[in-house]
Order: sequence, then C-alpha cells, then structure tokens
Amino acid sequence: MAKARAQLLAIHQDDIREDDAEQTLDESGDPLEESGRTVDSSDEEVEESVAEDIARFEDSFVGINKRYRLINRIGEGTFSTVYKAEDLEYNNFDNRWDIDEHESRKWASPSSRKRLLKRPHYVAIKKIYVTSSPMRIFNELELLYDLKHSDSVCPLITAFRHHDQVVAVLPYFQHRDFRDYYRDMKIPEMRLYFRSLFTALRSVHAKKILHRDIKPTNFLYNPQYSRGVLVDFGLAEREGTDWHPCACTQTPEDRRYRISHSHYAQIQHQPPSYPKNETRNSRRANRAGTRGFRAPEVLLKCTQQNTSIDMWSAGVILLTILSRRFPFFHSTDDIDALLEITTIFGRKKLKETSLLHGQVFETNIPSYSDGGHSLEKIILWCTGRSSKDEGTGLKKELEDDEKEAVQFLYRLMECDPTKRITADEALRHPFIARAFEDSEGDDDMDLVGV
Ligand SMILES: Nc1ncnc2c1ncn2[C@@H]1O[C@H](COP(=O)(O)OP(=O)(O)OP(=O)(O)O)[C@@H](O)[C@H]1O
Ligand SMILES: [Mg+2]
Repeated sequence: MAKARAQLLAIHQDDIREDDAEQTLDESGDPLEESGRTVDSSDEEVEESVAEDIARFEDSFVGINKRYRLINRIGEGTFSTVYKAEDLEYNNFDNRWDIDEHESRKWASPSSRKRLLKRPHYVAIKKIYVTSSPMRIFNELELLYDLKHSDSVCPLITAFRHHDQVVAVLPYFQHRDFRDYYRDMKIPEMRLYFRSLFTALRSVHAKKILHRDIKPTNFLYNPQYSRGVLVDFGLAEREGTDWHPCACTQTPEDRRYRISHSHYAQIQHQPPSYPKNETRNSRRANRAGTRGFRAPEVLLKCTQQNTSIDMWSAGVILLTILSRRFPFFHSTDDIDALLEITTIFGRKKLKETSLLHGQVFETNIPSYSDGGHSLEKIILWCTGRSSKDEGTGLKKELEDDEKEAVQFLYRLMECDPTKRITADEALRHPFIARAFEDSEGDDDMDLVGV
C-alpha cells in the first residue's frame, strides 16, 4: 500500500514526561504466529524435536523431573514455552485450588475415592524465557497470586527458580484451539463463550488489574463444558501504574479550551507541515498488547489507560467470530492499526477519539469516509451476504440474534473508553444474560467434544 498515512500530533504535552526516545513497549506477538497449538493427545504424539527440548529442560532445571513427569510441549508463546506434565506429588500437597477434584471427591464412594487418589493430575509448566526481566517475571507471578481465588482465572499453583530460570506451575486446562471452532460458533455458543470470558474479566477488573493481552490464545476455552480460563498475565498491570494526566480525564470544557489554545490550533490554517525542530516532548505510554487487539486509546498513547482496554479486545474477538475472519485486524504498526479502525468507524469518530486523548488525527487517504461503515454491513460483507437475495431481490440482512450480537458489539468496540461497557455490565447485557436462559434445558450446546 502506498504510504499515504495518518498523522498524530500531540496538541500540547507539557504534562507529559520528557523523553526523547519513544518508549517501545510494543511487546506484541502476531495472533497467527503464536500458539493456540495445545495438543491434547499429548501423551502419544511427541515429536522428536520436542522430546529433545524436554530432555534439555530436565537437564538444565535440576530436580524438576522428581516432581513432574514432562509429557509434551503444548504452547510456545512470545515469552515462554509451556509444557504439559503430570504432577507426581499431587497427593502430598494442599490442593485447595483444584475445585473440580474437590467436587468429584465429595460425591465419590469410598472405593472410587481410592481410584481418584491414584489418577494422574496434570499441570501446565510455563518456562518463562530467561531473557524476561526479573521485574516482569515478578509482576506476572505476583498478579497471579493476587488473583488466586478469582472466578475463571487460571490459578498459580506454585513457582520455582533454578539459577536464572523461573517456571510457573498452573493447573492444566483442557481446551480447544480457537481456530478449530470460531467459524462454526452459533449465537448461543457465543453467549456462553463471552459469559465465561466476562466472568474472568469481572474478577480481574474488580482487583483493578488490566490484563492487557486479551485474545483467543490467552483465553483457554472448552466448548464442551462452556467454560474457559484466562491465562497469561505477562503483560498485566495494576490500574494507575505510571499514570500521567491525559486529556480524556478532563471535563469537555477544559478539553475544548486546551485544544483551542494548542500549537495545532495556531497552525491549523497553514498548509500541512512538520516543524524543523520539534521542541515538544514525545509521548510515553504503555502500548503492550497484541497487534489487532489494541484499543484506540492504547494506539493513541493515552497515559491513563484503564481496565476498559480489555473490553475493546474482547470486542475484537466477538467481531472475529461474527465475521468469521481471524485475524480480523492485521496491521503492521500502530498507525496502520488506527487506519484499520478508521475504515470501520470513519474519520469523524477517529478525530473525536484522538482529541479526547490530546492527539490530532489527520489522514490524506481519500477512500476513508467520514461516517465509516456499520458493523452489520461489515459482517454481511465478511460472511458473503453483501449481494441481494436472488429470489426476492431484497438486500440480505442479519438474523435477529446476530443483530442483537452486533448491538452488544457496539458497546464493546466503543471508541470512547468512558462510554465502553464494563465486564460487570456486559454480564447483565441481554446478549449475555440470555446465555443463562439458553443453557437451561438446551443440551445441544456442545460444539465438538474436547
Ligand atoms: N494452564 C494451561 N493449560 C493448558 N494450556 C496452557 C495453559 N497455560 C498456557 N497454555 C498454553 O500455552 C500457550 C502459551 O501460554 P501463555 O499465553 O501463558 O504464554 P506466553 O508466552 O505469554 O504467550 P503469548 O506471548 O503467546 O501470549 C497458551 O496459548 C496455551 O495454548
Ligand atoms: Mg499467551
């Protein structure tokens, strides 16, 4: 694509920390590059290279094989390798985290209780790459520890360190690869998926923690039981970490005043140009996340990001499922990502959104309309329903329950974070609330058995 680009100009940044080098907290992975490769028939099929990798790991991490029998490699992320292992000392430890085990033991007869004691218990061992900074590893483990009793969040069982190698041990959660089922999901199944995801987000957000990397491979979902767990708190942070005042927290009047007295306002009627000597400070903000899932305020370097960034990312997952396109967004950088969002929501919305965070959005790409396109239209396009019905000659429409899903999607993909729906509200939204009705008395809900 010709490099017709959008520009983002800070209006004025006296309230932003001085730092010449733009902070590169872009710790993203590509949604296609990374895992989702969990292998469930892992006991049988172990590739030779994986077996060698496991052997190397066992050699380097002295004592690991006394406690765990490593079975297979189940995930390879940007920051870690995850192995499935059998917990050899399960019965010697307090396993209060294992709710399923408690439940099955509670109802088991004495003889089957004995059998239960002998059955293998699996864990996921997350070997965090040694190149990760100690602070970052500590952050992930500390947040996981804080979230240990949170609904639908994969709890941390324990962690070990051997020299510079740290491993986190989590319960192994059987799930299916998103790419195997997202194309076939029906609306009732979407309600259940998102009920589970928002249950997790509600508990994480209640603790004022931002996950920052909501995407399908970090939400391990088991369609058979309509249950999922949130994993990967490697980029998570507490709300308020490193906050600096952003225009989005000002009153609309203050914001208008600030804009009308900005450097940008003074040069607005001059032909587009760049200052020879840029004296304004560059803006620093945490942009960690995965490309395609970042909320507009993350792309616009808002310096007061909050838990609502995760709700946008959840919206991208819903858009992916409704449109049957994965990845839905596929930008190479933040400006391209903003342009992708502009294609949908239009120039006017993006200008307003940028101003909200003290940024000016300009683009010379003529094909972007002011109003953008409706999400309904985009979903119809993506699912091959954009032409007229041959029989009736009428325009094809979304089904009623899809329309409801789209209304909900608008609440998630709301460009203004202050207006975006919260996880708690989402669980009470008719689209999700209906999941409870659907799950009562409907046993055709399974997609495919895990
Ligand atoms: N508890 C678990 N049970 C089963 N599989 C898991 C578990 N935890 C992680 N995995 C698998 O390992 C993959 C990578 O895990 P995780 O996301 O925690 O690592 P990461 O290196 O931070 O990933 P990325 O950078 O790709 O987001 C997951 O997508 C999943 O397939
Ligand atoms: Mg991950």
